[in-house]
Amino acid sequence: MIDRKFPKSRLRRLRRSSNLINLVSENTLSANDLIQPLFIKEDLDGSEPIDSMPNINRYGLKDILKEIEDVLHNGINTIALFPVINPDKKDENGGEAVNENNLISTAIKNIKKEFPEIILIADVALDPYTSHGHDGVLLDGIVDNDSTLDVLVEQSLVLANAGADIIAPSDMMDGRIKFIREVLENSNLKDTILLSYAAKYNSKFYGPFRDAVDSASNLGESSKSSYQMNPSNINEALQEVAMDINEGADIVMVKPAMPYLDVIHAIKQEFKIPTFAYQVSGEYSMLKLAIEKGWLHEDVMLESLLSIKRSGADAILTYAAKDIAKEISK
Ligand code: PBG
Repeated sequence: MIDRKFPKSRLRRLRRSSNLINLVSENTLSANDLIQPLFIKEDLDGSEPIDSMPNINRYGLKDILKEIEDVLHNGINTIALFPVINPDKKDENGGEAVNENNLISTAIKNIKKEFPEIILIADVALDPYTSHGHDGVLLDGIVDNDSTLDVLVEQSLVLANAGADIIAPSDMMDGRIKFIREVLENSNLKDTILLSYAAKYNSKFYGPFRDAVDSASNLGESSKSSYQMNPSNINEALQEVAMDINEGADIVMVKPAMPYLDVIHAIKQEFKIPTFAYQVSGEYSMLKLAIEKGWLHEDVMLESLLSIKRSGADAILTYAAKDIAKEISK
């Protein structure tokens, strides 16, 4: 028999109106938590769509300024910039990455001149620049850790000197944070922030991004499993983060986000340092396409971002940043 006097606690009391629900909500999402990734393409006039990423474009040097103005106007203060260079500038060793006048350096200078207050993140890795699509230089067909470090250090200097506020190594070479931090300290670039892609998994969710930066065809069937993490592992993620903190990282990142909420949570619990998450291209496209088809309600995007916040992320890189900022300010 049910005891009719049972309910001292009725959790539904606090769900009786949206005002009550909001009053006791444990997590919120604001434009301050969102970072907009943007693709910039060399010699492009205007902008062009990316087939595998609904509603996301590549921008030429001029048009990206207009897009950034719109992003800022919607309350987002931070962008992450990814270059798509001319294919004939790609080579075995990613030499264009260390050219002071390359596409991304030019873009960074233009953007910081027009929008000095913006927080600009630039990736450190060679995959936009190599003919084989790997993040480092090859030795006997394998990405070689230590010779890659030399190039990454130089690339970091180029990006920081161009005016990037945050340098984000996404290459997963061992020891890169240490060497990059050292060279920044020694080059009077003490305030450049290091955001380490510390727990970056060898994920198939990056597929659309590789189309976007045109590295998919170069990479072919080759895998990044000799440097990116095995999706089975979580202890290893804690070890990666511990090392990167010791080496001088200011912020650590987990990538992808939604399939790895446990990893975000564990890192935040253990280290209590600024922890970002990257809702990657495949996560975005999956949701966005289903929304466009009418199979999912558009609120799934906000729900996915809230889940990432709830897991412990302080900020989120997401292709949906501008649209979500627009929506939550309503
Ligand atoms: C490359 C890099 C990748 C992403 C960001 N930087 C792809 C990769 O490792 O192959 C993926 C981002 C996304 O999928 O949205 N260093």
